[in-house]
Amino acid sequence: MDQIGVGIIGTGFMGRAHALAYGAAASTFPGLPRPKLVAIADIVPDAARAAAEQFGFAQWHTDWRRIVEDPSIGIVSITTPNLLHHDMAVAAARAGKHIHCEKPLAQDAVVARAMMQAAEAAGVKTQVGFNYLKNPVLKLAREMIADSELGEITGFRGIHAEDFMASPQVPWGWRLDPAGGTGALADLGSHIIALARFLLGPIERLTADLETVVKDRPVAAGSGERRKVEVDDIARLTVRFARGCGGTLEANWMATGRKMHLAFEVSGTKGGLVFSQERFNELQWYRAGDDPRLSGFTRIEAGPQHPPYRHFCIAPGHQIGFNDLKTIEVAEFLDCIAGGPACGPDFREAWEVQKVIDAAVAASHGRSWQTID
Ligand SMILES: NC(=O)c1ccc[n+]([C@@H]2O[C@H](COP(=O)([O-])OP(=O)(O)OC[C@H]3O[C@@H](n4cnc5c(N)ncnc54)[C@H](O)[C@@H]3O)[C@@H](O)[C@H]2O)c1
Repeated sequence: MDQIGVGIIGTGFMGRAHALAYGAAASTFPGLPRPKLVAIADIVPDAARAAAEQFGFAQWHTDWRRIVEDPSIGIVSITTPNLLHHDMAVAAARAGKHIHCEKPLAQDAVVARAMMQAAEAAGVKTQVGFNYLKNPVLKLAREMIADSELGEITGFRGIHAEDFMASPQVPWGWRLDPAGGTGALADLGSHIIALARFLLGPIERLTADLETVVKDRPVAAGSGERRKVEVDDIARLTVRFARGCGGTLEANWMATGRKMHLAFEVSGTKGGLVFSQERFNELQWYRAGDDPRLSGFTRIEAGPQHPPYRHFCIAPGHQIGFNDLKTIEVAEFLDCIAGGPACGPDFREAWEVQKVIDAAVAASHGRSWQTID
């Protein structure tokens, strides 16, 4: 397979990131099938037309079904609001397309499972946009934990904090629509749940407290009319991992001053790791038992010794960026489609993430502990 046609649905923040990544993947990772940018769709005609021109798509549409029906397209990339993912993904699976869908996969685990079943029944490959897991230093962190560099893990403290909803004047948007699922928990929490699972494996049970801090917001920018908010601004979870240790996870889009604090501290009997996406080319490592005069966290700096950093830059410390993580995600997906190893997180893993979200909602409503099936 030398080439594969790509159709992207949505031209917002993630539509742009996907377009850049499909444009860059084959030249960054030689030997992969070369994505051909066939078509891009958006319900806003000017946005679809402008994106086609900017990124070099041959066609643009306002109806996403034109992408799913196009026989020259092999990969459908879904970058629309969460509530729309299901219909697009199921239609794409039935048309035999491989599917690259943004996170969270769906509004709840029942819908996520239906999407997974449709894809598995059709035998198509899937990839979900948990791009932060593609970070070379997080792959290293996972290896260090698996290789017992930290000893027995005793605790995990994870958070995804940003502040883009901190002002009560931020207007209504699709992220606040309760039909689309939870608020900060789905939007940001899905990332820290996926990261916790990536590093430490399944979460077995949890309790949670979901809180709506801003009770109503303007219906549109500058409007005096306000609409009730029914989703969480902050979600705080206490979890037990199947491996035996406990932890806490927080999702918070009102964390004033925080722009991209997807972060964790993991502690073990032999050491600890500290990470924040705000400085994502580095990992802090503490080794217990070092000479006390010299002990402290040391900084591991990303470089070509951490795959696949070298594909972007041969020099250590020069750093990779957010869109490079998306390029790695796309490259792994292309390789998987061409017969390489399974990539993921696929729809099945995204369903597992969704189950944790649903359990947190149930725990918060019932003031209870929930076991995750
Ligand atoms: N992986 C990440 O790091 C990351 C970051 C941000 C958002 N996301 C996810 O990406 C998805 C989109 O988020 P965003 O920030 O790009 O949103 P956005 O609002 O910037 O863009 C959404 C786009 O979808 C278009 N759209 C809406 N309905 C459509 C339809 N029926 N047909 C075609 N186009 C339609 C909109 O016009 C808009 O251009 C969400 O699932 C979100 O959770 C992921």
